[in-house]
Amino acid sequence: MSSQPSAQQLRRRHKLKSTLGLGETLFASADERRFALALEDGLRLVEDGLLKEMTFADNLADVTARYLFEAGGKRIRPTLALLTAQLGLGNTPEVVVAAQAMEITHLASLYHDDVMDDAEVRRGVPSAQSVWGNSVAILTGDLLFARAGRLIASLGQRAVQLQSITFERLCLGQLHETIGPEPDDDPIEHYLQVLADKTGSLISAAAQVGVIFAEAPEEFQEPLREFGEKIGVAFQLIDDVLDLSGELEETGKTPGTDLRSGVSTLPLLYLRRQAIDDPDAAALVTRLDRGVQGGPVASASASAEFTAAVADLREHEVTRATLDEAHRWAHEGVAALSPLPDGPVRTALTRFADTLVERSN
Ligand code: IPE
Ligand code: IPE
Ligand code: MG
Ligand code: MG
Repeated sequence: MSSQPSAQQLRRRHKLKSTLGLGETLFASADERRFALALEDGLRLVEDGLLKEMTFADNLADVTARYLFEAGGKRIRPTLALLTAQLGLGNTPEVVVAAQAMEITHLASLYHDDVMDDAEVRRGVPSAQSVWGNSVAILTGDLLFARAGRLIASLGQRAVQLQSITFERLCLGQLHETIGPEPDDDPIEHYLQVLADKTGSLISAAAQVGVIFAEAPEEFQEPLREFGEKIGVAFQLIDDVLDLSGELEETGKTPGTDLRSGVSTLPLLYLRRQAIDDPDAAALVTRLDRGVQGGPVASASASAEFTAAVADLREHEVTRATLDEAHRWAHEGVAALSPLPDGPVRTALTRFADTLVERSN
């Protein structure tokens, strides 16, 4: 990578810092400013190395693998790994590699997720499978999972074990989301477990690798595991709300993608529960169900009707209730940090959690 960052990279870095509320000017003391600079240094190391990892000695694979990487992304998982690393030795080479592996795992999952969700847009660009078809998108995701595995293997047994457990949970989360609850399951509990598995697991792993590979005190691992898991659920709940309300320019995704592909996110699950004894809620459920892909209608007017139904869901009290639930999870995540010493890392993690639930992209 050249030493001169491109305009796109500079925009992305600026956005990243402002997105996460971690710009160094926000830190008051010299200690905190040093901490912020370390974080920025770490992110640069991660980013530079990531580009190198998008090389497969194969022109076609390089193009498809770099496609979504270069389209943007908030890099929240590596940021979290670097944040928790500051509890120990900081940006060790192992921390940087682990942070890269977390981002590559995430990136791989996006290629596969967009196939499963039939998403048209990702990170503001046409999704990989709409450019090259499902097979190429799936294989690119597989290549990236393999590359993440290679990086993780270089870190030894503990990293391999954490990554395998995480990957297994990620797949189980996606599988349970796809199949839906069993008749005896509570749909809301089932869904929250899906979120913990498909999203919380990787964010939690990111929080843990910083502690492990910066050789921070072992007793910090469990609080950070719990923190990552809980803010991961909060993060995904906000994603569900953004699916209803997000502007494409901001989220880089098409509003309503989850619902259209038949994923009953929490606002819709709350609405279904309310529909049992509320005819207005029941009518809205019917309008939303009609828009699901593969459903009875797929004309332009049906699509407009679906868009209007999504807008009504966005204004419904169940969406407010979903946001409240996200804040509750984030709050519990922050509460798990109580064993950590006061200082810039704990302050930044708290700010990180707050920013994740206030985000608009
Ligand atoms: C999107 O994750 C998938 C979810 C788990 C919600 P991000 O919102 O972190 O995606 P990028 O990396 O910023 O594109
Ligand atoms: C995120 O789930 C995918 C993974 C965690 C693997 P979603 O399907 O809800 O995320 P977006 O909205 O497409 O980013
Ligand atoms: Mg999706
Ligand atoms: Mg999905």
